[in-house]
Amino acid sequence: MVPKQTNDNGNKGTGERFSSSKGFILAAIGSAVGLGNMWKFPYITGENGGAAFFLLFIACLIAVGLPVLLAELAIGRAGRGSAASSFVKAGGGKVWGRLGLISVIAPFLIMTFYILVAGWTLHYAIMSFSGRITTDVDFNAQFSSFTGSYLPLVWAFVAMILVAFVVIRGISGGIEKFNKVLIPGMLALLVILMIRSVTLPGAMEGVSFFLSPDFSKLTPEAGLVALGHAFFSLSLGMGTMITYGAFVDRNQSLGSATLAVGAGDLIYAFIAGLIIFPTTFAFGIDPSSGPGLVFVALPAAFSAMPLGWLFGGLFFTLLAIAALTSLVSLLQVPVTYVMEKWNWSRNIAVCSISLLVFLVSIPSALSMGLIDIEIGKYNFFDFIDFFASNWLLPLGGLIVTLFAGYFWKNAAQEAGLTAKWFRIWLFMLRYVAPILMVFVFLHSTGILKFE
Ligand code: PHE
Repeated sequence: MVPKQTNDNGNKGTGERFSSSKGFILAAIGSAVGLGNMWKFPYITGENGGAAFFLLFIACLIAVGLPVLLAELAIGRAGRGSAASSFVKAGGGKVWGRLGLISVIAPFLIMTFYILVAGWTLHYAIMSFSGRITTDVDFNAQFSSFTGSYLPLVWAFVAMILVAFVVIRGISGGIEKFNKVLIPGMLALLVILMIRSVTLPGAMEGVSFFLSPDFSKLTPEAGLVALGHAFFSLSLGMGTMITYGAFVDRNQSLGSATLAVGAGDLIYAFIAGLIIFPTTFAFGIDPSSGPGLVFVALPAAFSAMPLGWLFGGLFFTLLAIAALTSLVSLLQVPVTYVMEKWNWSRNIAVCSISLLVFLVSIPSALSMGLIDIEIGKYNFFDFIDFFASNWLLPLGGLIVTLFAGYFWKNAAQEAGLTAKWFRIWLFMLRYVAPILMVFVFLHSTGILKFE
């Protein structure tokens, strides 16, 4: 038999590929759109003054997020290996492979708490559909008694099985098919919920909080929060986009994929804002109420609206889908790594890593109230989040920008940009992104303080 002709650059990896451009872009959007868009984005926007912060987030996304996203996809496709080995296979020295390990460990750690929050959303979806979110409930107490029990572990286990079930079926047979159905599904849910929320009496105040900027509220701090979030939201610095890149067809234009993923992420965050702010304002809830906004404040709002069980149920289903499509991309990172490094089969890789994620999530879950596990000023759950999001993620991002900006000889050829766009891209990677990343890192780790 004559082997199928490929125009790959010598690296073939496992040979697994996304079956279509659309499938790949939807999977990458699925990774990007997650709890970051629906849970974190609304509350940090609320805490940082609303519309002006949103504009800042867009600026960071375009100026720094997109160039790094393109770099990650290009490194992955050129190397066709794991988030660590792709650097080396794409032409970098061995040291890059070691540095890349950060981007294999980070998604593993992120998964251990992300899976818990995914479990919370499943629990809340069921509670809402079964009519247990009613006006006579103290939502704060309900949330803390839930997170302080063993129940979140049961739900995390369910979420982990769902994710493993998708990833075990492979790139095109599992991840791609799953996202092809759920990304449009998510959009439909978002639109239904947005219509519901902007038509609530008193909703317009929330719309204007989200859409009319007051620049006097912006602080340098908000700039760094916006940038850190643009990174998290595009799933950068975690090896996910390098890993997805490794399965992308050679003919795919990475420039247009980058734009599509950036636009997708922004649109989903925008609509999420148009659901959450009108709803919170219509019910007199403070939009800067922090991480509890979605699990405490919104159930209160849903309980007080007609057909609230239905809208609440749909809302938490939406959140669960967003979390699951991100989790499949996170799981694929260490799975690719062990399949390549130790030649494990996909089945063994998926099962063992999923189990390990679940085991490591146990102390996080227990630290929410059952037992005291404290590291410094954080409980275990917050510590893992803090360490992975504030230390590993900016470092992972920095490694990508430095490699692509200064050390990668094939960058021009692999990114496939026109000469003009290539110059702009390189400029951002060399001079803008690394400097800002260092600031984000110093600020989010608490080394740099504004006072
Ligand atoms: N981008 C996802 C979100 O917004 C989070 C994520 C980060 C997913 C890194 C994968 C990798 O929630």
